[in-house]
Amino acid sequence: MAERRILVAANWKLNGDKSLVSKMSDALNALELSNIDVVITPSFPYLACFEQANNSFSLCAQNVSEHESGAYTGEVSIEMLKELGCEYVIIGHSERRTIFNESDELICKKFELIKAKSLKPIFCIGETEGERESDETENVISRQVNVIIDTLGVEALENSVIAYEPVWAIGTGKTASPEQAQDVHHFIRTLVAKKSAVIADKLQILYGGSVNASNCETLFSQSDIDGGLIGGASLKPDEFSTVCRLAQGIK
Ligand code: PGA
Repeated sequence: MAERRILVAANWKLNGDKSLVSKMSDALNALELSNIDVVITPSFPYLACFEQANNSFSLCAQNVSEHESGAYTGEVSIEMLKELGCEYVIIGHSERRTIFNESDELICKKFELIKAKSLKPIFCIGETEGERESDETENVISRQVNVIIDTLGVEALENSVIAYEPVWAIGTGKTASPEQAQDVHHFIRTLVAKKSAVIADKLQILYGGSVNASNCETLFSQSDIDGGLIGGASLKPDEFSTVCRLAQGIK
């Protein structure tokens, strides 16, 4: 089995300010992180505030335009993100899918562009509460993953990250149990392995949905869980750096 590094990613959503940028940078740089990947995802303007620092973590964007340039008022391009030092881009987040009506096809276009420019997508998937209750979880996950595999080929998942985020667990304080999460992570890895065992084995699959300093160790110790995508708890530098410190001790 491949040695997969744990990845801990903060998703600030529509929160944060310059003060959080400096407090988070100080908290993380004090940790001397070595064997894990840490990623910070602020809103677009704050990416520039991180740029100059010599940080022990990577930058990620919360979104990207599917267009490379042109008359698209309000959009941010992949080259702009690259220039600001971004290495990752979150796509397919349930908030983008539901509030901004992003379709599987649009998400796939963004995925393709991110890969073409050698950045890493953090590709979010997950079922709603109703879908889980009606036993649709595996169908929903298969559809979301297969759009990428069928359109771009399984190779697109090389150097990409998947984040499994059950919609009912996002921002609700209701975390999936480690067993529930592990079951879906295993399902995702098996789905990818049907096309390429090598890519599946190396793929970092994150869990997201109310992860915090108290539940991260049990979640991240599951064999197919390779870290987390963290919203609320990533706005507290002390708590987020505790998650990173604890994650360093696992695997
Ligand atoms: P949460 O958000 O940790 O606040 O549940 C996770 C996410 O939406 O990525």
